[in-house]
Amino acid sequence: MDTETTEKIVARIKSAVEPAREVDDRELRNTFATHLKQVAARPEVVPIEFDGRRLEVRRGGTLLRAAMKNGVRLMHICGARTLCATCRVVVESGDDNLTQMSGAEKFSLRWHLSISPRTRLACQARVNGPVEVESVFPLCGDLPNG
Ligand code: FES
Repeated sequence: MDTETTEKIVARIKSAVEPAREVDDRELRNTFATHLKQVAARPEVVPIEFDGRRLEVRRGGTLLRAAMKNGVRLMHICGARTLCATCRVVVESGDDNLTQMSGAEKFSLRWHLSISPRTRLACQARVNGPVEVESVFPLCGDLPNG
C-alpha cells in the first residue's frame, strides 16, 4: 500500500471518529418551526377518484387504506406485505401525486408480470394529491352482515 493511500485511509478514519458537529440550538429551532409551518399549511384532505367514485382521503395514507375507509372493496390478500399484488390499481391520472415506487413494490409487480409505469400496489402507494385509479381485481357482491 502506498503512502498516499495510507494517508487517505487515516484521514477517513480520523473524520469518522471525530465528534459530530455541534448543532446550533437556534438553527435547529428555526428548522423545526419552518417544518411545522409547512405541515400546518398543508391541507390534510385530498380528493381522489377510485373506481369512478369520488373520495376524500387523508394525505399521506395509502390507496388501500383510502379504499377501505370509504367502502371501496379491493382485494388485499397478503395484508399489505407486497406479496400478492391483488391490490393492483391502474393509475389513470395524477401518478405524480403518488409516492415513488419502493424496491419491494417494483419486485412484486415484476414478479406478477405487471410492471408498468401506470400500475401500482394500492397497499404501498401513498397519496399526496389528486389521483384517479381503477382497481384491477375489485371485489364483487355485498359484505356479509354481522
Ligand atoms: S395487499 Fe398484497 S400486495 Fe398489496
